[in-house]
Amino acid sequence: MSKEMKNILVTGAMGQIGSELTMALRNRYGAENVVATDKRTNPNPELRDSGPFYSVDVTQRTSLDAVIKKHNIDTIYHMAAILSAVGEKNPLLCWDVNINGTLNVLNAAIDFEMVRVIIPSSIAVFGPDTPKENTPNDTILRPTTMYGVTKVCGERLGDYFVKRFGIDVRGLRYPGIISAETLPGGGTTDYAVEIYYKAVEEGKYTCFVREDTRLPMMYMPDCIKSTIDLAEADFSRLKHHCDFNVGSMSFSAGELAESIKKHIPHFECKFEPDYRQQIADSWPSSIDDSVARAEWDWEPEWDLDRMTKDMLEKLTKRHNQGNLYK
Ligand SMILES: NC(=O)c1ccc[n+]([C@@H]2O[C@H](COP(=O)([O-])OP(=O)(O)OC[C@H]3O[C@@H](n4cnc5c(N)ncnc54)[C@H](O)[C@@H]3O)[C@@H](O)[C@H]2O)c1
Repeated sequence: MSKEMKNILVTGAMGQIGSELTMALRNRYGAENVVATDKRTNPNPELRDSGPFYSVDVTQRTSLDAVIKKHNIDTIYHMAAILSAVGEKNPLLCWDVNINGTLNVLNAAIDFEMVRVIIPSSIAVFGPDTPKENTPNDTILRPTTMYGVTKVCGERLGDYFVKRFGIDVRGLRYPGIISAETLPGGGTTDYAVEIYYKAVEEGKYTCFVREDTRLPMMYMPDCIKSTIDLAEADFSRLKHHCDFNVGSMSFSAGELAESIKKHIPHFECKFEPDYRQQIADSWPSSIDDSVARAEWDWEPEWDLDRMTKDMLEKLTKRHNQGNLYK
């Protein structure tokens, strides 16, 4: 770790990733030292009762600054965003939250002399002109979604703030994230989470992308590990800052359904592509993450079959207790 991170603020802490990242950070750095914030006001009891929570809209500097001052924040994990599918329905909202929210966080980092800012990016920075297989770290970034446009801008802004203002900003391009705790918030890879819930609940699922749609994915424990590993990496080893590819696994929607059938043989999956197919088709099938491996020793731990077993165990247990959706 370069400089010490003592008082951490998480934006978008009620989201799919923010909710689990906040709990992991509280375990690691002490619950009182990790302040959860979200635009929404109704955190789940685990998040609410385990440490500080505030409602903060990242597009409003004043509400962000008030919490930063109150808790003497020196590190921000900026997870608040509008994701790809919602972003295509409301592109201007996507721009406002993802760009103005990110600028507010970066400017606050300068004004309050922060130690570190972590800003996730996405495989959505790539587009149809990018090499699709084993997509390199440093390649063509010409996304066709507003979400992708904002994520490229976020990466460039972060790198600019590192060079121009000397603040320590880091970011990584998550693939589709799969998890069993908080439902995803409107991305194109949501099918890879919904399929598990529906398999357990109904034994069938109608998937909104084609069977042969192959995308890079990652299980939540690897997502949390990658985020914290990058945040704690030695700054002097980083040649990149805000645009690390992180790979874990790649599979088609059909292969995902097959991995579930190994545990639930009667599971039936239909494929009825909607507007999200076009977004999925513009993204890579697999990711080359050799830069992250070289600069901060990234190493994933989960594969498809282990993940499926773990997801189904967790969701089946909750379903049997009558609280699949919590
Ligand atoms: N989940 C994925 O598969 C995935 C993949 C690639 C990148 N990412 C990136 O990871 C980060 C976290 O994503 P996630 O999946 O947890 O998203 P999510 O949609 O589940 O959560 C985002 C959170 O941000 C909050 N939010 C929205 N507008 C806000 C505002 N104006 N101010 C404050 N909070 C606001 C929402 O209430 C929500 O709780 C994002 O930057 C996203 O782009 C996610």
